[in-house]
Order: sequence, then structure tokens, then C-alpha cells
Amino acid sequence: MKNERTRTLLEDAAQRGIAYRESCDARPVAPSAAAIDATSRFVEPLPENGAPDEEILALLDEVGSPATVAMAGPRFFGFVIGGSLPVSVATNWLATAWDQNVVMHEVTPATAMLEQVALNWLVDVLGLPGGTGGGFVTGATVANFTALAAARHRVFADAGWDVEADGLIGAPELQVIVSEEAHPTLFKSLGMLGLGRERVVRIPVDGQGRMIAAKMPAVDGPTIVCTQAGNINTGAFDPIGDICEAVKPSGAWVHVDGAFGLWAAASPPQAHLVEGMQNADSWATDAHKWLNVPYDCGIAFVRNPPDLASAMAITADYLITDTEHRNPSDYTPELSRRGRGIDVWAALRSMGRSGVAELISRCCRHATKFAAGFSAAGFDVLNDVVLNQVLVSFGNDVTTRRVIDEIQREGTCWCGATVWQGKTAMRISVSSWATTESDVEMSLDAMLEVARRVT
Ligand SMILES: Cc1ncc(COP(=O)(O)O)c(C=O)c1O
Repeated sequence: MKNERTRTLLEDAAQRGIAYRESCDARPVAPSAAAIDATSRFVEPLPENGAPDEEILALLDEVGSPATVAMAGPRFFGFVIGGSLPVSVATNWLATAWDQNVVMHEVTPATAMLEQVALNWLVDVLGLPGGTGGGFVTGATVANFTALAAARHRVFADAGWDVEADGLIGAPELQVIVSEEAHPTLFKSLGMLGLGRERVVRIPVDGQGRMIAAKMPAVDGPTIVCTQAGNINTGAFDPIGDICEAVKPSGAWVHVDGAFGLWAAASPPQAHLVEGMQNADSWATDAHKWLNVPYDCGIAFVRNPPDLASAMAITADYLITDTEHRNPSDYTPELSRRGRGIDVWAALRSMGRSGVAELISRCCRHATKFAAGFSAAGFDVLNDVVLNQVLVSFGNDVTTRRVIDEIQREGTCWCGATVWQGKTAMRISVSSWATTESDVEMSLDAMLEVARRVT
């Protein structure tokens, strides 16, 4: 009886999930105002007594699904959001049914092994140095935090200070160098590590947002240099190889925030953009962005895994830490967590090296096509389109905002707004396996039609 009810419920969830995914191709990308208003049906006092499971699932689907933005569909180009691959959704569902807590290898052998394999494959496909270690975290914000915790450990250890034991009060001076264009989450990570969001040296950038390597200060004493692979607006890359060459001989730790840009390494036409990044000490990336696995999944990589373990590992009598195996929780801020690496394993197993390369280069080709379409129609493309990001201006800031609002309302596709070096722009980010050439054409036609009407 119990099994039968579980089966009926999970089959219902699967059917609803399938119907939702099938609807994403055709429905307007943004939800209607009525659908958003209807979410007020969720607002109720905590029920005194429970409700039937099938009723709860139906409520979630009938009220929740129409009020989602179709991020899993082929024409969502906002932020940097990749639609999840069907195989990784399927493995995510099965792994949820497993309900594994990936703390220790001994009690989650299958999951721990899958994550180890996924990590090795990631190091391979991203061209990171052999032996690089890492951990699966919620996203690039926490990946930056995690990798920088390892950096903090190493640079203080080299100066004879045990930061994990003794904290920062009384610690030696530490210099943190960042780009003026570092992603806000990098500053947040530095703040969470006690290194200060503002206690940094900011390096100026060029017109594409790339750090100017010649402006690096002299490096002396404990130093962490944070570089970026993939500017959130332009997609541009810092000259990471040059920066490594300049600062590594003085013992600085170089970190790369490659939330989406690190994936350029997996695609031969784009790999030159990350040249020299293998010489860094740590890297952060997202799998929920360009590897197209479901939320949430980021990865922190550290060249010398013991530096990460020194920052993250704990012991307790009730935990099985005395093991010959890699314990996943030695490399992540969390103790308890889901097996995020399983979806990464599935995505890489399904696409292989060539499929990942094709996904990355296809998205970049789509971005180039968007840029060419807007330029040909007489609108300004503000960035050099080197990756998957395109910035378009439709004239002055007010008009550009109006065009973006109308595009979102029209519903064929969805793009957001930004301000690039003082100018309001529409951001297009092509990050999904689901986007086809005809989605690009359909979206371009719809956006140009709106732009001509509004401008
Ligand atoms: C360069 C960069 N770093 C960090 C992040 C934060 O990633 P997440 O939202 O996955 O934490 C982003 C998000 O777009 C990003 O582009």
C-alpha cells in the first residue's frame, strides 16, 4: 500500500515534469501577470493538519508551473543561465530518490565514486593541471569562496601563520589584488573570508573589461591575485597567463573566477581565450551554467588538494574520517549535501569531450549571429563578441530600457538589461543546449520588430 502510493505520486510528478518541459518550446518565456498574481494562492497560514500528497503536487504544478520563467526552454537569454540537459534532469531525479548525504565515502560509496570520476573528467575537459582537486558546491559564488579559503590557507601558511587555528586577528599583512571588473560575488567571497570586500587593490580594465596586466603592482609578501575568465557583460577574459607570469615568481596565489568562461577551455575555437590559465593555483566554475546541469552546481578546483583540505576538513568521533578513500566533505564548506557531481558525471558521460566542445562553440556561433543581426539592422553592439555574450544598445538609456521591457512582454524570448561602461544595454547570453539556429532567427526577428516599433 505504502509502495503503491509512493509509485503513484512519483509517476504523477514525472508526468507533470515531462509536460512542463514539453511546454517550454512553445509558451511565452515570461509568465503572464495573471499567473504571477495566482501565486498568492500559496499564501496561507501554516495548516493545522496535513493535506493529501497528490493535492500538494497538483497545487504546485497548477499554480507554480505557469508562474515560472521558461529558463529550461530554448529562448531564455537572461543572466548566464543554461537550460538543463534531459539526461541530467533524469539523473537528478533518480539521485533525489536515492537521498544520499555525500559526506563520507564509506556510507555513500556510489555517489562518492561518481563525484570523484566527475571531478577527474572536469579537470581533463577543462585542461587543468593533472592532480588538481576540488569540491562540488552550490555555485560559483561558493566555489570562489571555497577556492579562496584554500588560497588564504596557503599564503598565510607560507608566512608562518595558521589562519584556520588562529584567525585573522594579528595575522601578517595580506595583499589581495582584483580587477575593477571582478564579479560582485568575488567581493562577497572575500568579505565572508574576513579579507574585506574593500581592502583590495583594484586593477584598471580596458574597454572590454579585461584587467590591464601592466598595471599590476609589485608583489611582495602574502598575496592573492583574483583574475576572471569571462566578464559577466562582455564575456572578455583577463590576460591570466601574463598575470601568472608576472606574480607567481614572487609566491602569489593566482585564482581564476571562470563561472562560465572557464568552459572556453573545452572548445578548440575558444580555447585560446584562456591561454595560460593552467598556471593558476585555483579556479571556480559553474556546471549549472554552461554544462547545463540542473541547479545548483558549482565546482571549486585547487591545484594542490591538501591546501583545500586544510581549509575545509574536519574530524569528529562519529564521522568516518579515517579512510583510504577521498571523503567529499574534506573539500567543501558543507558537511551534509546532495550528490551534485552525479549530474556532472551524467552530462559529461552523455556529451563526451566532443559534445561539450560542440555545445560551447555552438552557443558562441549563436551569439555571433545575434550580434551580426543587430549590427545589420543598424543597432550598436557594444562588445567584441568573443564568447556567448552580446551587449546591444537601442539608442539612449531610456529607449534601450523600453525596448528590453517590450521584448520581455512580447514573450518570444527573454533578455535582461545591464549598464556597460556607463551605457545601458540589453544583455544576450546564449548558454543552453536547447537553443537552435531557428530559435536564434525567431528571437532576432521578434526583437528587431519590437526595437523598430519602439525606437
Ligand atoms: C564571473 C562570475 N562569477 C561568479 C558568478 C556567480 O555565480 P553563481 O550565481 O552560480 O554563484 C557569476 C554569475 O553569473 C559570474 O558570471
